[in-house]
Amino acid sequence: MILFKDIITQNEKMLENIEKARIYCDKNVPVLIYGETGTGKELFAQSLHYEGNRKSKPFIAQNCANIGEGIFESVMWGVERGAFTGAVEGAGLFETADKGTLFIDEINSLPQHLQAKLLRVIENQKVVRVGGTRPHMVDVRLIFAMNDTPENVIKNNIIRTDLFFRLSEYSLRMIPLRDRKDDIPLYVEYCIQKYNRENNKGIRGVTDELYEMMFDYQWPGNVRELMHYISFACTGCTSELIGKDDMPDFFFDFYDDEAETVNVNTVEDISSKIGINGKSYEELMQVYSEVVLRITLEKANGNVSRAARMLKMPRQTLQHRLRKAGLDNQRN
Ligand SMILES: Nc1ncnc2c1ncn2[C@@H]1O[C@H](COP(=O)(O)OP(=O)(O)OP(=O)(O)O)[C@@H](O)[C@H]1O
Ligand SMILES: [Mg+2]
Repeated sequence: MILFKDIITQNEKMLENIEKARIYCDKNVPVLIYGETGTGKELFAQSLHYEGNRKSKPFIAQNCANIGEGIFESVMWGVERGAFTGAVEGAGLFETADKGTLFIDEINSLPQHLQAKLLRVIENQKVVRVGGTRPHMVDVRLIFAMNDTPENVIKNNIIRTDLFFRLSEYSLRMIPLRDRKDDIPLYVEYCIQKYNRENNKGIRGVTDELYEMMFDYQWPGNVRELMHYISFACTGCTSELIGKDDMPDFFFDFYDDEAETVNVNTVEDISSKIGINGKSYEELMQVYSEVVLRITLEKANGNVSRAARMLKMPRQTLQHRLRKAGLDNQRN
């Protein structure tokens, strides 16, 4: 259970978010929380619930990216007996969360036709179980999260505008760690103290050199990434100050990557892979795009989120392109 006091920040905009969220707590309105991975969306969602007037009722979280398109409706609205062969009757998450809160995460991964159905449920406050006809009234407070920007989900038609405007009246924008580097020492301090307390150790801080690197770094994984690194570093640290040698190797992998953008722009590089051979411009562009995708994926060790960052492209868009190019067997 997370409360607002557990959200660590001294950043003005994040403090404003906390103030806004405190006001939203007891309002029975949907709230949309958006921001990059690891910026605290789940912490805000939980605090909204556990500090609001529904705190003694269930808080249920469901990530849209983890739920197959085919079962979304049975999971959400439930199933009536005999709906399909082998169907097991049961309530969906809307009914289970009745009087409480349903946190619908990564709403930007939900296909459009299901977004339309979700919007109808939100507006009518009723669900009809799959295979059933009887509407069940539900009293559920909804919180949504997405790891994309409003501009992008609208411009690229990822979220239907009718649903988006229904959700976004009360919204909270999480600030990436690279735009609030003044918070870095707070998280470092927090992790070190926690480690010292739990392990009876006396680590005092971080070397100036490492601090400098941390201020330089762009933190694609935001607070989660920072906390992981510091906890890892504490475990191996043998002196009073954590130095760069205590950091995990992947900190340096990412750190070095930032200097390196994908470089496929030499003529030899491309022509060795493409060759003009009477192909149309469109066909060539398709091959070129595939080359870029393959090279980037390889550099990112198959990690799609990382590849998306390298190409400065939303993960969702990259995934879509990978799928189109038949390269979507590597996932993350
Ligand atoms: N402001 C914060 N104060 C304290 N811990 C934080 C804060 N923000 C993030 N964290 C830490 O980072 C972890 C990730 O945060 P959270 O789960 O809220 O991210 P998220 O935005 O939901 O990310 P994702 O999109 O990957 O689900 C938390 O479990 C917590 O340890
Ligand atoms: Mg989350």
